[in-house]
Amino acid sequence: MPVEETYLKTFYIETFGCQMNAHDSEKVVGTLLREGYSQVVDEADAGLILYNTCSIRDKAEQKVFHRLNEYKRMQGEGKKFAVLGCVAQQEGNKIFERAPYVSLVAGSASYRNLPEMLARLEAGETRITGLDDRQTDETFDTEFTARTNPHRGYITIIEGCDKFCSYCVVPYTRGKERSRTSASVLAEAQRIAQMGFTEIQLLGQNVNSYLDPSSKRSFAELLAAVGEVNGIKRVRFTTSHPRDFTKDIVDAIDAVPTLCDHVHLPVQSGSTDVLRAMQRDYTRDWYLERIAWTKAARRDISLTSDIIVGFPGETDRDFEDTITLLETVGYDAIYGFKYSPRPNTPAIHMHDSIPEDVKVARLAILNARQREIQRENYGRHLDQTVEVMVEHGANSRGQITGRSTQNKTVNFMCDSTPPPGSYIDVRITQVFPSSLVGEAISVPTVPSPALAAQQALNARVPVVH
Ligand code: 5AD
Ligand code: SF4
Repeated sequence: MPVEETYLKTFYIETFGCQMNAHDSEKVVGTLLREGYSQVVDEADAGLILYNTCSIRDKAEQKVFHRLNEYKRMQGEGKKFAVLGCVAQQEGNKIFERAPYVSLVAGSASYRNLPEMLARLEAGETRITGLDDRQTDETFDTEFTARTNPHRGYITIIEGCDKFCSYCVVPYTRGKERSRTSASVLAEAQRIAQMGFTEIQLLGQNVNSYLDPSSKRSFAELLAAVGEVNGIKRVRFTTSHPRDFTKDIVDAIDAVPTLCDHVHLPVQSGSTDVLRAMQRDYTRDWYLERIAWTKAARRDISLTSDIIVGFPGETDRDFEDTITLLETVGYDAIYGFKYSPRPNTPAIHMHDSIPEDVKVARLAILNARQREIQRENYGRHLDQTVEVMVEHGANSRGQITGRSTQNKTVNFMCDSTPPPGSYIDVRITQVFPSSLVGEAISVPTVPSPALAAQQALNARVPVVH
């Protein structure tokens, strides 16, 4: 089959993992478009297939190799393949051994070199690597970011992680911690606002340890400044580490109305002994003190968390400490995970002592208890009026879906079909353990024409699934 220039310059991207990965893909797409590539919806039409991978849990590597095997059948079509993200960084050159038809393997800390790597790819080079391995001090700042989320503009403020929790691959796959300047973050926030977005989410593996390399501005100061950007109505941030979570973050939320009433503060375990083994560098009491600050705020700040069950050595008593912590905090949502040993991490050398059936049972107990807590928490919203930002059009029951400032899902009936990005007041008529149901009681706001144009563009080429 003749391989034409136009075909070679088409790409298809598939993304797995967290919001950081989703946003990295937005930046990669922006960079590719800038380099003259065009995006296609169907992998069959693409000259270049990119696969942005995640290795946080489970047998991620195996899944990637399995997917690459499926790509194999397409190699005769003149296609080129690139593996990006955490599995790329983790497995490195091994990917070429197991999937020789892959031409480019790059971890996130080397994406700033993508234009140069693409040029080498176009010149016919194979086995191109971008494997930074905690060397770089640079961040991937690019003005060419494709904004594919229809209602939210993401901004990375800090890359990498220096915390080295004993179970976690991130410090090895995303490199060392490096903050962007607040001037560049604010310039990006302004650009996003001009595009018509009213919601911004600040991203980083540990946003709380943000420190402007030039002005020394702290995370709380940056957060407040982003909240004051003209046109911005909602600012979210993720993810926080309790060790660096300072009271001025709560004060900023109290002082700046656009900052959302939500803090995601992963605790991982309620047992101080397990926290020590996890190298989390705080105790249960230290964590609860941060929770107390948040609950003492004037605003009703919703709290959510990540929890790992079955960490090596976790006793029934330790697990019970996690359950009592859930009850003490009263989270509005948790993401519970079974511990999974990850390559390169210190915990891989600990005996993975908790049998799978015990992990499964503990996760089920955790989720069941949390569901009861949420049933109670969500109950207080009955008859309240909440402002909702619309995220999706009508579902099969004719309900529109959006979110409250607390990040709670609200499904509601409305006479019109307000587009993603509009705001509307909803009176809550029914509550469930993880969603609210209601009726629109105001006329929806009209998103800016710039946002509508952006959404129309993205609807043709969805990037992230
Ligand atoms: N096993 C289980 N869960 C993990 N997480 C990170 N690494 C592991 C692992 N090895 C969870 C943590 C983290 C979330 C993003 O994923 O709870 O906060
Ligand atoms: Fe992983 Fe801990 Fe860093 Fe979070 S703070 S990315 S859990 S090492």
